Amino acid sequence: MTYAAFRSIGAYVPSKILTNNELSTMVDTTDEWITKRTGIKERHIAGKDEHTSDLGVEAAKKAIQRSGIDASEIDMLMCATITPDYFCMPSTATTISNKLGLGNVTAFDISAACTGFVYLLSIAKAFIESGAKKNILIIGAEKLSALMDYTDRGTCILFGDGAGAAIIGATDKKEEAIIDVHTGANGEYADLLMTPNGGTGSAHDAIDKEAANCFIQMKGNETFKVAVRTLTKDVIEILEENNIQSSSIKHFIPHQANLRIIKAVGDALKLKKEQVVLSVAKYGNTSSASIPMAMNDVFEQGNLKKGELMLLDAFGGGLTWGSALVPFSPLK
Ligand code: ACO
Repeated sequence: MTYAAFRSIGAYVPSKILTNNELSTMVDTTDEWITKRTGIKERHIAGKDEHTSDLGVEAAKKAIQRSGIDASEIDMLMCATITPDYFCMPSTATTISNKLGLGNVTAFDISAACTGFVYLLSIAKAFIESGAKKNILIIGAEKLSALMDYTDRGTCILFGDGAGAAIIGATDKKEEAIIDVHTGANGEYADLLMTPNGGTGSAHDAIDKEAANCFIQMKGNETFKVAVRTLTKDVIEILEENNIQSSSIKHFIPHQANLRIIKAVGDALKLKKEQVVLSVAKYGNTSSASIPMAMNDVFEQGNLKKGELMLLDAFGGGLTWGSALVPFSPLK
């Protein structure tokens, strides 16, 4: 039997930082309000000429270098993003593949908003377990500042830019295997979180560039309630189905959207403070990049060791959600 193992992690953030205090000079808000309601203190913002693919490339280089495999052994690359370099094509995955010089490898993007990284894990697991691929590079990369309306205090305080990447490789050792990945979606809630303009479903024709603003719009309070309800149910189910106690989780790495959502889910699982990974204060919500960026922080602090069990969970536009039970299984 072939299993899928989580081999390595890497991440990248652009150097420019936008603090809450700076935002309070742009919209009617305060550092105190943002900190209390979200836990966010600052976020990173990419430069004008720094594209989503550039963020993804830097994260991928670290993941490849730490994986113990050569780049030539990668046979598939997937990128989860809601901020692709180009509206339709080429995909950000093919652009990253080209910039990394990977040659002729399968490459494509997926769109699952903040749940993107968990969706990528489930696809990579299936491709590897079927025997179709051996070493898959997965990337969550976002330049969300490009979708921000910096006059809308309800959204512009939340989001930041960044990328995270991982190598998922084939193994015959069951103890190294990704245990389970849950993915779900419900389009009934699509209007809670969307970029209503710019596509073929919008009120504006996709080619009417003047009329089409493509900013993120969110019904934050309703999204918050659905997020807590859905995530709590999903993480409890994945633990029960796999007969794993929450006390066995070394690192709970949730999507970093809002400190209060993370605390609510952590409390429902009766997790101790030291089990919960938090990076929302310094990055804000980076959508598909947020879980691998948070995981990379734990790794770079020297706190992610071989065999340790991670519980991932995410929630995002669509609506989409997912969770995963993943032991860290580096080759070296
Ligand atoms: N500064 C000051 N006041 C503000 C701000 C701000 N930045 N934003 C909103 N307010 C005001 C509102 O106008 C409202 O005022 P009112 O009472 O006079 O009408 C008041 O604060 C309360 O607003 P709520 O929207 O109810 O505030 P809430 O506590 O819900 O916090 C937030 C808003 C932070 C957006 C929260 O709802 C949230 O985090 N939601 C979930 C986000 C999420 O998880 N999204 C999914 C992933 S993202 C993705 O997929 C791309």
